[in-house]
Amino acid sequence: MSSTSAIATPGHSPKRIAVIPGDGIGPEVIAEALKVLRALPSANQRFQFRTFDWGADRFLRDGVTLPPDAPEILRHDFDAILFGAVGDPRVPSNKHAADILLGLRSSLDLFANVRPLELLDASLTPLRDRGEEDVRFTVIRENTEGLYVGVGGHFRRDTAEEVAIQEDVNTRRGVERILRYAFEYARRHGLKRVCMSDKSNALTYGHELWHRVYALVRADYPEIEARHLYIDTLAMELVRDPRQFSVIVACNLFGDILSDLGAQLAGGLGLAPSGNIHPGQVSLFEPVHGSAPNIAGQNRANPCGAVLAVAMMLDHVELAEESARLRSAVREAVRLRQTTADLGGSLGTREAGDWLAERVARA
Ligand code: NAD
Ligand code: IPM
Ligand code: MN
Repeated sequence: MSSTSAIATPGHSPKRIAVIPGDGIGPEVIAEALKVLRALPSANQRFQFRTFDWGADRFLRDGVTLPPDAPEILRHDFDAILFGAVGDPRVPSNKHAADILLGLRSSLDLFANVRPLELLDASLTPLRDRGEEDVRFTVIRENTEGLYVGVGGHFRRDTAEEVAIQEDVNTRRGVERILRYAFEYARRHGLKRVCMSDKSNALTYGHELWHRVYALVRADYPEIEARHLYIDTLAMELVRDPRQFSVIVACNLFGDILSDLGAQLAGGLGLAPSGNIHPGQVSLFEPVHGSAPNIAGQNRANPCGAVLAVAMMLDHVELAEESARLRSAVREAVRLRQTTADLGGSLGTREAGDWLAERVARA
């Protein structure tokens, strides 16, 4: 089941946005993100939305997670996908989330998960004596391989001798394309430093491949200062002195962990956006946070991560000016504490969305 809203003006071709609100606070933050997007001038003429009800309720109702034709529909009928979050305590196996989110990342080959982190106000970092210029880096996470491919199995399940195997899949093509993406990203954004992080000292097959391919790829970008750190050292250095980092590239699992660590350095999960990207193809934008069942339904979720995800989506569909407008509204909200409680404000989710929408409309 889905619902469509479209008002198109002849002569313009509106951007077609698929909206997947998902579970928990997903629908709450997506409602606000859409409110803010709709506050842009002529938004009704410029965007067309279709909402898909994939998530825990649907799964519990009729067993559907990601319908089999979903990837084709999304690839052919849409310019971008806006995603809330999936995960629900009523589905402890997380089956629907794996099918929907990991399924879309894989079936749409969204190989680059781009997670920019920026401290918008010095008071928000838990680090002592650090300012805005100290925390500004982007985690580029490989998004289709590694330990996330779902290859493995159980042997002697539910016995004392049980064995569980989860394979770590690293392909030459997959590793090379994400490393190149990171260097190209740095080049495109005028950034001078790329740090690749792996665990090749212990993972002597999979991550040794990362190490070897990295040595080849970095040679093509002589103007960029390329550095390698083992993941444990990188975690330590990020907390000790985050200013060293500009672009960080890592495998799927390490990128997942680094992006939450980075989000906290920059003010918390409520502010962090991400893009699951395949250049030139339909891509998916979402806040980094999950469905946060502990605050769902209470009008407490911070919508800023979702609004900044919309800003990333606007950049992807080449609406840079509109994207900048959303970003500056969030920046202002943070500085003026017109935010939810996680950022020190006293607004609810809806009121924070109202404030941002008003700013965007007035800008
Ligand atoms: P979470 O990100 O949902 O929440 C972690 C903590 O951050 C919680 O205390 C939560 O209240 C807080 N938080 C998160 N987003 C917030 C926001 N916008 N505003 C204010 N506070 C916020 O992570 P979790 O608790 O580990 O996971 C909950 C569920 O979400 C699980 O089912 C998990 O698998 C799923 N999950 C989904 C995604 C996704 O869809 N991309 C990402 C992460 C986790
Ligand atoms: C994320 C989430 C997902 C991931 C979960 C929900 C499978 O944590 O998008 O960061 O690990 O990729
Ligand atoms: Mn995560």
